Amino acid sequence: MAFYLTPPDPSSVHDCSIHISGAKNSLLPIMFSTLLIKEKTVIKNVPLIKDLYGSLDILDFLGIESSLENDELHLRNSGIRNKEIGEIFTNKTRYSTLLLGTLGHLFGTAKVAFPGGCRFGGKRPIDIHLDALKNFGATISESKDFVSITSVEKSETPYKLRFPSVGATLQCILFCVLGRGTFIIQNCAKEPEISDLINFLNKCGARIAGQGTGELIIQSVEELTSFTWHLIPDRIETISYAIVAALLECNITLHPVNWAHIQLPIEYLERMGVPYFYEKNTLTVLGRQVKELKPIEIETSPYPGFPTDLQALIATLCLKAKGTSQIREKVFQNRYLYIIELKKAGARITQYNQETIFIDYSVDNMKETAMLCKDIRGGMACVLAALICKGKSLIKNEDQIYRGYTNLIDNLAKLGCIIESI
Ligand code: EPU
Repeated sequence: MAFYLTPPDPSSVHDCSIHISGAKNSLLPIMFSTLLIKEKTVIKNVPLIKDLYGSLDILDFLGIESSLENDELHLRNSGIRNKEIGEIFTNKTRYSTLLLGTLGHLFGTAKVAFPGGCRFGGKRPIDIHLDALKNFGATISESKDFVSITSVEKSETPYKLRFPSVGATLQCILFCVLGRGTFIIQNCAKEPEISDLINFLNKCGARIAGQGTGELIIQSVEELTSFTWHLIPDRIETISYAIVAALLECNITLHPVNWAHIQLPIEYLERMGVPYFYEKNTLTVLGRQVKELKPIEIETSPYPGFPTDLQALIATLCLKAKGTSQIREKVFQNRYLYIIELKKAGARITQYNQETIFIDYSVDNMKETAMLCKDIRGGMACVLAALICKGKSLIKNEDQIYRGYTNLIDNLAKLGCIIESI
């Protein structure tokens, strides 16, 4: 799957409003948590992304019935029937790893194939997940394709993550939330999507304290009962469109947004010279007032630091900044697969080492080319780069982007871009 993207010329770019979907990285763990929740869960403001449908296939195989009406997802758990799940399902989303904790708790034994999702050109280890599960009393064994878990009796020994991994924190929560005992997780991740899962589970009857502090205390409960949940807005989608406004120099109004979750990246954009206006969960990025963008230095880090998921996107904005910007990726190793694609279009980016890149003003140099989407954010970076290329760029393997963005093509068309699917 591919499409051609021709950006609007400056005189025909339109201002527009864009609805921000619920957060992808909240949706998926909440969906997997319904394996532990009796009867019906309703999730509202659901992003209609490819990872949603992949996760629904997994839940269907395990025995959860679902129906989707617009952006409202109904999930009914009337008993889970499988405790072994193969690669054909787990390759649909990275968060399938969370089945270890959930199925491990439910059945006492489960077998889950290694997960899919963005690989960033290398291995994405799950050693912290496995170490945490072992700490809490599970026995883990690994073969070439599968991880098996056996859990007879849980251990209440506190666990300190060696790095505040988002996935491993979710894994601990889902493994410990039901049963008996008190479980302490230290140096855990503080991302808003983790708090969203915790707030949801607490409404279902869980007793989890400490979200956002780096130490969670989970007092297991006997059962979780159904609840209707409205997902938090996707902060990465919000900032992606803020960058679109700055690149195309148009005004884009984004709603709903959660200010606390986007404040830091918005401050970085402001420092670069992108004005905005915020009021009542609505952000308007005033791209028409952008004069000259300034270069910036950024280092990614776990929340509340600058998100790794925005690294490729802000790198694309730096192509328009007069001077040399510097980015250091400190969360994932070498999350820079997209650079080679942007270079094909004329981007002046130098990779210094696995962590650091330098980006020079490149707009004068950018011209139409074919770019390959290798992961969600790297793919979105190709789209953003195409917005500052002269002519018609070809975006290949676009499905990667649809794993995380709803209505991308319609939104680009609203701005005046010409999209031709092939
Ligand atoms: N890590 C390990 N061992 C582990 C787990 C993680 O070494 O057992 C390392 C990773 O290799 C990485 C760092 O710890 O260097 C952080 O990984 P983390 O576990 O925090 O990330 P994740 O749970 O795999 C989720 C999101 C990512 C997002 C990161 C960081 C999914 C489904 N979810 O991944 O989202 O980048 O948290 O915020 O991937 C995206 O939306 O584009 C995306 C990739």
